[in-house]
Amino acid sequence: MTLVIAPSILSADFSRLGSEIERAEAASADWIHVDVMDGHFVPNLTIGAPVVKSLSKMAKVPLDVHLMISRPDQYLEDFAEAGSTFITVHAEACRHLQRTLAHIRSIGKKAGVALNPATPPEALAYVIEDVDLVLIMTVNPGFGGQKFIAEVVPKITAVRQMFDRAGKPDIHISVDGGINPETAKIVTAAGANVLVAGSSIYGSKDIGKAIADLRGAEAPRTKISTK
Ligand code: DX5
Ligand code: ZN
Repeated sequence: MTLVIAPSILSADFSRLGSEIERAEAASADWIHVDVMDGHFVPNLTIGAPVVKSLSKMAKVPLDVHLMISRPDQYLEDFAEAGSTFITVHAEACRHLQRTLAHIRSIGKKAGVALNPATPPEALAYVIEDVDLVLIMTVNPGFGGQKFIAEVVPKITAVRQMFDRAGKPDIHISVDGGINPETAKIVTAAGANVLVAGSSIYGSKDIGKAIADLRGAEAPRTKISTK
């Protein structure tokens, strides 16, 4: 599977998001990751659907929208109309996860599920057919610039194995939090194919080099036994 680099605009300059996205696109970003926070599911507030709508008008690459909100069902139409490509909800925020994922697909969007570091991979066991992307949080969500939690790495392999066994090798397995060239090597070896990175890209003086360094860090996937 091709490696996807998705810069997170959480670490970009919010006073000029349009040009920050153009800068990432010029530096060969594959997707743009957009963090939506409600001050309830996570202890921070960011942006909502109106901002996503403005960004989608100028962005050339897919918008990977990560909803860190308590009641995602109330806003799915808004984020779909705003031009999201992927809409990812947190398993911990969905009382009826399968219904939510089916809803996202029914409005023409790709459906993602995010798992907090302490949430086990079994949360996905009965929605395997309903998801296009799994977002494995490698920090507790809410802020950029946090330290990668290495304890989560076996979960990446467990999820990759779960989807391989189900005959879904094309599932996107994304990682988010503390991703830099060093941790990128670890997570790609474990089975991730989408790298979300905020501070290691936008915090760099040369974002072209930062993205190239992440791509260069891709490690061959560790052979996973499916027995
Ligand atoms: C954190 C967000 C991330 C954040 C990652 O809750 O979901 O997307 O931007 O930032 P870094 O890459 O700085 O850890
Ligand atoms: Zn995110």
